[in-house]
Amino acid sequence: MSNAQADAPMTASTRGTPSAQGRSAAAERVQAPAWVRNAKLIEWVASIAELTKPERIHWCDGSQAEYDRLCQQMVDAGTLRRLNPAKRPNSYLAWSDPSDVARVEDRTFICSATREDAGSTNNWVEPKQMRETLRGLFDGCMRGRTMYVVPFSMGPLGSHIAHLGVELTDSPYVAVSMRTMTRMGRAVYDVLGENGEFVPCVHSVGKPLAAGEADVPWPCNDTKYIVHYPETREIWSFGSGYGGNALLGKKCLALRIASNMGRQDVQRGGPGWLAEHMLILGVTSPEGRKYHVAAAFPSACGKTNFAMLIPPAGFDGWKVTTIGDDIAWIKPHADGRLYAINPEAGFFGVAPGTSAKTNPNCLATLRENTIFTNVALTDDGDVWWEGLSEPPAHLVDWQGRDWTPADGKAGRKAAHPNSRFTVPAAQCPSIDEAWDSVDGVPIDAFIFGGRRSTTVPLVTQARDWVEGVYMAATMGSETTAAAAGQQGVVRRDPFAMLPFCGYNMADYFNHWLRLGQQLQADGAKLPQIFCVNWFRTDENGKFVWPGFGENMRVLKWMLDRVDNRAGGVEHVFGTSPRYEDVNWEGLSFGSDAYAKITSIDRDAWQREFALHDELFAQLADRLPQRLREVRARLEARLAA
Ligand code: OXD
Ligand code: MN
Repeated sequence: MSNAQADAPMTASTRGTPSAQGRSAAAERVQAPAWVRNAKLIEWVASIAELTKPERIHWCDGSQAEYDRLCQQMVDAGTLRRLNPAKRPNSYLAWSDPSDVARVEDRTFICSATREDAGSTNNWVEPKQMRETLRGLFDGCMRGRTMYVVPFSMGPLGSHIAHLGVELTDSPYVAVSMRTMTRMGRAVYDVLGENGEFVPCVHSVGKPLAAGEADVPWPCNDTKYIVHYPETREIWSFGSGYGGNALLGKKCLALRIASNMGRQDVQRGGPGWLAEHMLILGVTSPEGRKYHVAAAFPSACGKTNFAMLIPPAGFDGWKVTTIGDDIAWIKPHADGRLYAINPEAGFFGVAPGTSAKTNPNCLATLRENTIFTNVALTDDGDVWWEGLSEPPAHLVDWQGRDWTPADGKAGRKAAHPNSRFTVPAAQCPSIDEAWDSVDGVPIDAFIFGGRRSTTVPLVTQARDWVEGVYMAATMGSETTAAAAGQQGVVRRDPFAMLPFCGYNMADYFNHWLRLGQQLQADGAKLPQIFCVNWFRTDENGKFVWPGFGENMRVLKWMLDRVDNRAGGVEHVFGTSPRYEDVNWEGLSFGSDAYAKITSIDRDAWQREFALHDELFAQLADRLPQRLREVRARLEARLAA
């Protein structure tokens, strides 16, 4: 690759070159292009280059030409395979090192000043000690490699809800993925200007190259650290090139650091805001009423499918549109309501299970300009994963080995269960016309859901904000084979934020309670809060509810409740629809089956409360009293 203006070799002759034409010594040293005017950024790039010692620096401009050049370079290096352009134009396949296939929660740290501020659900190391460890690891870690300077905006450029970041990475795979997943490139420098703020993110795969040493297709390191410093808003990531470990705008910035920013805003006199693990969708009724919903589900519970739902038979004239599939930033607006943006610009979704039946919109999105990671390769140069279609007679699996359906029957997956696609959101056929709006969209309802084969009914509307916060705080989900070794174990996952909340979870509950109280005091109409469960099973372990597009039936009931139009029955936890409150046109689903997925079993709920207590005991020091009060109220209602 050569780009005379933006590609600067870090050689002895450029280190310490005296200033010319009024540029700072640091700018000379790192050959910052003229369009980079932010002195703090340049100084920081220079200091990280001094530490990590890359061979050269490339200042990304975010252009298509740059993307194509980097992809070609990775094809030449064996990191990417170009897919058959007739079948999948401008698309590539990457196979990672088998040891680097998922987020590493046990290596993820929130290094706040005190352990209490990180809270018991996060890993914590004293910041000074962590800085020393990282200094040792990052010293010289980019030797022999290019350091890419990746400027990005989380959220539409110039939106008052958006924030800027700059990632320094020695992975070209990360640089091109960031172009898809964020607004990345030169325009970010214009918004940044001379004095703008940015979140500094440093990433290294942790595999320096000695002189003459040949590279491997997927460099990484067995030692991994994903580190956040909330007070100084910094991110440092070492050892992994995969997903949320490496694309630092996503989980690290848009959730862990941003959740801190939303709370720090209150400490700085602002109204506060929310950074949530939520999809955002729009629903337009046949009469033209538009609703917006934000929904939190743990990983691998079908967020992308719900975000791209196609209304089934019986819903003529209804339209569902997609604003985001993973993350929402939500702020109080001048009209008193909560508005949400999707801070991302692409989808980094799980491939297995995605099909023309489960999510046709997603499949259509993947038609071109996609980087697939750890899926299988077909003999005609396309991709395949479990659940896509009948398996072809022969494939090359995600580890480069031959694979036939017999291997599948023997339990060997062709695609890794956590294999992914990285694709521009704008390509989605159901993308909402306002997905890129700088103001975001007004939220009518929050939905929280986990994967529960028992206990939790299909849908419940919380009585009020505080009971809704309780429901979200005590949410649990059964782990899947993809997420953890033990299938079917219920893990408490408050607000689907367990791996993503960047501070003490009890303080986070408080932040939600305080925001609701404040908006209510200001006379605002708060979003309604609902809890759903698509995953109840029968005595044979089969899902009772058909899910996917049929979830529209539940969604419509929720929206009717927002407008006070639908009936329901009140019970211990809130209000649920009776059988006759749901539109069944076009689906044969009897009242017996409905009873199976909506029943509330007193013994099961006694056991469930004991699990809530375990979570509350873990968070006891800072747990809001109001949640204890809800707990006592609900139990009394259950006993009655
Ligand atoms: C994701 C996740 O990748 O939640 O979105 O794990
Ligand atoms: Mn997610």
